[in-house]
Amino acid sequence: MIAESEVLVVEDEPASLAALRGLLEEHGFRVSEAASVAESLARFDIGRFAAIISKLELPGAPGTDLIGASAAPVLLVTNYPSVRSAIESMKLGAVEYLGKPFDHGELIESLRKALVGSDSQPADGGSQPATIPGMIGRCPEMQELFRRMRKLAGAEAPILINGESGTGKELVARTIHQLGGSPGPFVAVNCAAIAENRIETELFGYPQDAAEASVGLIDSADGGTLFLDEIGELPLTAQGRLVRVLQDGEIRLSGAAPRKINLRLIAATRHELRQRVAEHRFREDLYYRINVMSLRIPPLRERGADTLELARMILRDACQRLQLPRKRFGKNAERAILSHSWPGNVRELENAIERAVLLGEGESIEAGALILEDESSQGGKAPSTDGEAGKPEQKLSLEDYFRQFVFDHQDFMTETELASKLGISRKCLWERRQRFGIPRKKKQPA
Ligand SMILES: Nc1ncnc2c1ncn2[C@@H]1O[C@H](COP(=O)(O)OP(=O)(O)OP(=O)(O)O)[C@@H](O)[C@H]1O
Ligand SMILES: [Mg+2]
Repeated sequence: MIAESEVLVVEDEPASLAALRGLLEEHGFRVSEAASVAESLARFDIGRFAAIISKLELPGAPGTDLIGASAAPVLLVTNYPSVRSAIESMKLGAVEYLGKPFDHGELIESLRKALVGSDSQPADGGSQPATIPGMIGRCPEMQELFRRMRKLAGAEAPILINGESGTGKELVARTIHQLGGSPGPFVAVNCAAIAENRIETELFGYPQDAAEASVGLIDSADGGTLFLDEIGELPLTAQGRLVRVLQDGEIRLSGAAPRKINLRLIAATRHELRQRVAEHRFREDLYYRINVMSLRIPPLRERGADTLELARMILRDACQRLQLPRKRFGKNAERAILSHSWPGNVRELENAIERAVLLGEGESIEAGALILEDESSQGGKAPSTDGEAGKPEQKLSLEDYFRQFVFDHQDFMTETELASKLGISRKCLWERRQRFGIPRKKKQPA
């Protein structure tokens, strides 16, 4: 259970802060403090707070930027209450909006209500699971991700997605764009895939009066979402220009008048950007601008049974796409899927299944057909529920298993029998013999 009564107060006036702290502590809450949105995000893992009370008007970003930055409910207080800003704040997802000076009893009551009604508790207690069309995820981390995606979809602030490669960063970004209902385009740019000397023109375009005038990707995303994948790879000069676009809401090219740009930025990285900031490879101001709201996508090896559900969905889709009859996984394949560490995450799972579908012949896909490599990290997650756990074979990687099986059986089995026992085609057996360096033995003359 999340720390029940730890509340983050974000307030830049020391006197108001002290008064709020006193009030909250008097009612049994633990209090942490910050003076701005940026400070809250930099100093705390704000997911740990049960609620956030923030002033609306803060230096830098407004308090509304904390909405959706974690599952915690956000209560806003303001020096300048107005109907319009109240409606806007509630639309963004604030659970309360109080003009100063507010009634102390009212604040405490709102806070208690917010805590009871908040979905910041893990979804283990019979509540409806969160769902996102086209995405699979029942484990607690994915459920948390789904809830936050829904919350963030309605806001406009930039989002930073953190996740290893192949975890679904682009899928998450695209889905947030769709959930937000924006009629504008979704433009995805992989900063690591564009040469360093090309990226600025790709993003920002050429001046309109240049011989080869061109529209940049930022322009193309106007009115929609710009997804910058691997933003950590953006060269420093391009980072500087991006900060200016975000800051001014307009794009400037030498010799041309600045143009207004209205887009939502979603950035993704598989690196720890804070580390890059410390190494002066990533601009601190850009980091704070894009890290207003952040999402973490868990690696596949942390998703438990979701992995099998994903595998079954991918198998179904692959058979459909390739116009093949339906297939299913054999028991040993399911076990292999659950115990593999999937360093390449969902993308690796997709590749392994597609390969198995293409190479396999029968209706059932066996472990051998999945060709799972790189199992040096075996044992990280070996299934312990079956009675076989602890047997020495359990420690073997699939490659070891394959070798062992071939060595043990090749003297008395034909290639067809070997392949069939392994659940793979003869062609696949031949390929794997080549790859693992166990060529077929020449028949000894009798
Ligand atoms: N939770 C999920 N449910 C269903 N499909 C998923 C899920 N997560 C990822 N995928 C699928 O996995 C594949 C990889 O996802 P995506 O390209 O979004 O990952 P990525 O993190 O951007 O990868 P890379 O680091 O290689 O750029 C896609 O085909 C995507 O549809
Ligand atoms: Mg990607």
